[in-house]
Amino acid sequence: MSWNYICDISQVQADFPFAGNIDGREIGVYLVDGEYYALEDVCPHAYALLSQGFVEDGKVECPLHEAVFDIKTGRCLREPGGRDLKRYPLRMVDTQLQISWMTEEESQ
Ligand code: FES
Repeated sequence: MSWNYICDISQVQADFPFAGNIDGREIGVYLVDGEYYALEDVCPHAYALLSQGFVEDGKVECPLHEAVFDIKTGRCLREPGGRDLKRYPLRMVDTQLQISWMTEEESQ
């Protein structure tokens, strides 16, 4: 599995995820209960960046039509999200977060 630098942990706060375009992919990085999670950032329903939505209690709400996703699992909790989000493995090296493009589902 290869790893790519995505951001420093100082760029991720519980209320404010990091959003970045890495290798042409929009990714949101969230901090929930002391753990970091990387999710695809484009809402599956239409085009909105979920990292610009409202984050609370481990969930993110799409800023466009208010679909809700669970940050830890990627699960769509409220339509019109349409499907669950892809999750990507993260690892921490010193204060850097690195991402792998093999999704959590593919790595199992
Ligand atoms: S674009 Fe996210 S719910 Fe419509």
